[in-house]
Amino acid sequence: MAHILVLNGPNLGTLGTREPEIYGSATLADLADTLATDAAAGGHTVEVRQTDHEGELLGWLHRAAQERVPVVLNAGAWTHYSYALRDAVQYVTSSGVPVVEVHLSNPHAREEFRHTSVISPVVSGVIAGFGFDSYRLALAQLTR
Ligand code: DQA
Repeated sequence: MAHILVLNGPNLGTLGTREPEIYGSATLADLADTLATDAAAGGHTVEVRQTDHEGELLGWLHRAAQERVPVVLNAGAWTHYSYALRDAVQYVTSSGVPVVEVHLSNPHAREEFRHTSVISPVVSGVIAGFGFDSYRLALAQLTR
């Protein structure tokens, strides 16, 4: 049995009402339900968190490294420019704990500033463009 952390960065608490044509009309609570159901089917557990405060996300990553808890990470816009986030993710993966970067949309098919991910070079893998299924695929990988 595995325990997986699903960490979400800025603005992802507004899922359901934020640009539904891009991010869909389901909420973060719906995502948590979906992932909990998937996890339970395999005898696993998940904890879904969201923050609009970068330092809080950094602290969660530090603890994930120290407690050796695999992470699914949607860092939202921080993905594109936060070197502090990159360093924290590198701390986790270089400790031997996997981090899967996920995105609901496909950032490469959107504005130019979204084409850069400063965390992709230090994560275990990247899944983008499949809505909630991006998270579900990441969870499946981390619990296989
Ligand atoms: C996102 C893509 C990012 O570019 C954006 O800033 C988000 C959401 C996604 O899940 O598609 O907030 O990470």
